[in-house]
Amino acid sequence: MLDRRTLLNTSVAAIASTLPALKAEAKGLDFDLEPRGTTGVFERLPRLDLESELGFYTSYRTWIRQDVFRSAARRANAIFRELAINPRENDLPIREVVKILENDPLMGYTVHARETTQQIMWAAIQDAYHADGEMYLEELERAELKGPGSLQLRADLHIPRFASYEIHLQPGGYVGDPFAGYIYYHGLNVEFGNGNYRDELQTGRADAVPLPPDGKVKRVLEQGCSAGQLTLALKKKFPDAEVWGNDIGAPMLRFAHMRSADLGVETHYMHELCEESNFPDNHFDIITNFLLYHEIPEQVGRDIIHESFRTLRPGGIWYPMDIYTSSPPPQSAYGKFSSWFDHRWNSEVWWLDYRKLAPDFENEMKRAGFEVVRHPTGQGSRTNIMGVKPA
Ligand SMILES: C[S@@+](CC[C@H](N)C(=O)[O-])C[C@H]1O[C@@H](n2cnc3c(N)ncnc32)[C@H](O)[C@@H]1O
Repeated sequence: MLDRRTLLNTSVAAIASTLPALKAEAKGLDFDLEPRGTTGVFERLPRLDLESELGFYTSYRTWIRQDVFRSAARRANAIFRELAINPRENDLPIREVVKILENDPLMGYTVHARETTQQIMWAAIQDAYHADGEMYLEELERAELKGPGSLQLRADLHIPRFASYEIHLQPGGYVGDPFAGYIYYHGLNVEFGNGNYRDELQTGRADAVPLPPDGKVKRVLEQGCSAGQLTLALKKKFPDAEVWGNDIGAPMLRFAHMRSADLGVETHYMHELCEESNFPDNHFDIITNFLLYHEIPEQVGRDIIHESFRTLRPGGIWYPMDIYTSSPPPQSAYGKFSSWFDHRWNSEVWWLDYRKLAPDFENEMKRAGFEVVRHPTGQGSRTNIMGVKPA
């Protein structure tokens, strides 16, 4: 039986392989567990009833995110107008905005509906993988012996407290459940309205990643690579480059490597902190990340900027992609309320830190030594911040 409390303490140390680096060439060790097969590149959920259940949550949550959120924003605007405060842009600190809005029933319903389905959704996926836990552990273990690509896990890696929260309520977070990779992978598909069956989200982000000014790409790193979906998409975009993903979550990396190996894609995964990586100076041509910044403390965010500068070669580029790298934090009443409810009720522990860092992001990049430029995001007319290490 798998006991989550035990796993929280032991998963990284005990489950992380004690072998230093598994660069696998072994053949005939297939143990690709997809009880219901795949749809294209998508690993289907192990049971039809679970797939249907998640289908229901997906539709319900789409309705919440669209109609209910829109109604809540209208209500917030009306409340602010009654108080003669500009609802679209105001200087009120978040805690004042929250005081004004938090007792409104529609605000309460919005938060409640979103967060309860969030919890039920995660629990349903987690239960399914824990029910056959031994089997899935074996899948992960066997995949470690498989190539192409490599996985380097470190049993002695200290997990800082900031990285061990159950971000967006995912049970066990990224480090505390051995099946965190499976859980995240399927949960992300629900979060994006069943729109990530073919890693569309990450493929779109990989498409947006620019080339260094001299066009040379030999080595690419995705920081905080999670289930490896962007790492895979980057390898597709740069087939001749050596493509790496790093992450603090051993279970995430194990899933990422297992899936890459299943798909026959040569990607490399490194267990480490982005801000204290094991890579040498002047190593990568491109370093990127996606949805990392809103999940880390402000200081860690700053440290990652400096570490990226160190590990990029002269002329290389850093291309961080998150909510506020292409547009500033919203100053509207509902925008501030949303940031707060994600922080308070969705366990987005570091969201308010991210709001603080965002306005100083460009300055920190310049302090690290980057030339800062803006580059199209692939989403309409928006541009994303980009750092070029001077050649
Ligand atoms: C939201 S996920 C990234 C999503 C991913 N890029 C994708 O395309 O789905 C954030 C990841 O960053 C990792 N992470 C957070 N802080 C980290 C740090 N300081 N060093 C390494 N990984 C970190 C987490 O373990 C998690 O897997």
